[in-house]
Amino acid sequence: VNYTVVIPAAGQGKRMNAGKNKQFIKLEHKPIIIHTLSVFQSDASCSEIVLVANQNELEDLTGLMNEYKIDKVSSIVCGGKERQHSVYEGLKAVKREQIVLIHDGARPFIKHEQIRDVTVKASDTGAAVVAVPIKDTVKKVEDETIVETVERSSLWAVQTPQAFRLPLILKAHKQAEEKRILGTDDASLVEQIGHAVSIVMGDYRNIKLTTPEDLLFAKAIIEERNEGFK
Ligand code: CTP
Ligand code: MG
Repeated sequence: VNYTVVIPAAGQGKRMNAGKNKQFIKLEHKPIIIHTLSVFQSDASCSEIVLVANQNELEDLTGLMNEYKIDKVSSIVCGGKERQHSVYEGLKAVKREQIVLIHDGARPFIKHEQIRDVTVKASDTGAAVVAVPIKDTVKKVEDETIVETVERSSLWAVQTPQAFRLPLILKAHKQAEEKRILGTDDASLVEQIGHAVSIVMGDYRNIKLTTPEDLLFAKAIIEERNEGFK
């Protein structure tokens, strides 16, 4: 199943505290966003990439895409205030009517296997996300006191890619905008309009690089990957 991917990269990276958008932090001499783009560039099922970027970073990104020969990017659009706004701008630029994936620029370790699984599932059900069972025991807390232990077996941590039929995710974003709903992910907007969202099993290595200690884990993942080539 072929797909278009929208990659939001128009954040500020505040929690990473790197003094710049974390997309430009280098892992093995390559910016994080290039790692992410390369996974889709090398996936035969990916027919088009829409990149969402900050206005003042367009020039640098264009240069990087030439340098690393990322030629599947059909358009680079400017992002909005929140991630949801950025994604919506990206979705409006999708040219082909097919399955659309939304994948964080800050998740460079996504593998073709999970991309395929989520794409196939979404073409079947309309909406699917990659998720992993949570490992921690989770408590609901009020006033620094535990009020409830949440049953873990039914809890999953959702990641990206999140995959949808294009008309469905466009409708979900449109309605969210009209009702001024800000969801924490794209699936939640689809849930809001009453469409079921399936999950497919992800990988614990598909982390989002959010805070500085995530970079330690990132280095370990890359080391493991390089071991495989020895
Ligand atoms: N993103 C975006 N537009 C925004 C906010 C976020 O395109 N207005 C993108 C980020 O660039 C990132 C992804 O959405 O690839 C996930 O967001 P997050 O991890 O929160 O990144 P930042 O918003 O950059 O980081 P922070 O929240 O720490 O500032
Ligand atoms: Mg953010």
